[in-house]
Amino acid sequence: MGETKQLSVSAIKNGTVIDHIPADTLFSVINILGLENISNQITFGTNLESKKFGKKGIIKVAGIYFSEKEINKIALVAPAARLNIIRDYEVVEKHQLTIPDEVAGIVKCFNPACITNHEPVTTRFRIISKDPLRLKCHYCEKITDEEHLTII
Ligand code: CTP
Ligand code: ZN
Repeated sequence: MGETKQLSVSAIKNGTVIDHIPADTLFSVINILGLENISNQITFGTNLESKKFGKKGIIKVAGIYFSEKEINKIALVAPAARLNIIRDYEVVEKHQLTIPDEVAGIVKCFNPACITNHEPVTTRFRIISKDPLRLKCHYCEKITDEEHLTII
């Protein structure tokens, strides 16, 4: 018999597992999804060993099925993440994420003079390129690129 597989974070019966999150963006993902406002059981782990990443994070939310649109909000910070839908302990669906065409309130505008950096205005961008990532601000029209990407 081969090596036994042990889960670092317990299996869930029903709900959502978001796997393959880079270890260093796990807490951004938690914020973007607003998990602090959810009263369901949430378990997560980070700095777990991963063959693909070296280290990865994982989040399990019992009893909640996120829409793909909601989950795609995290694509900017966790592009390789997988959304797994669990029903009765089985993975019944597995989705890759897609970077959306627009993002609101996740990324900071790179332009220091932008209104979003001075007034309580939610940032808004159109994604004009996905690889490399380039975001155009709805307010000042300046481009924020991957190198200058700061998560709010
Ligand atoms: N999982 C869980 N509870 C279950 C079933 C699965 O928490 N009842 C978790 C697994 O621990 C894993 C993820 O859901 O982190 C996806 O499960 P599975 O597809 O079985 O694992 P892998 O094949 O390792 O996934 P991948 O192909 O995405 O690497
Ligand atoms: Zn701007």
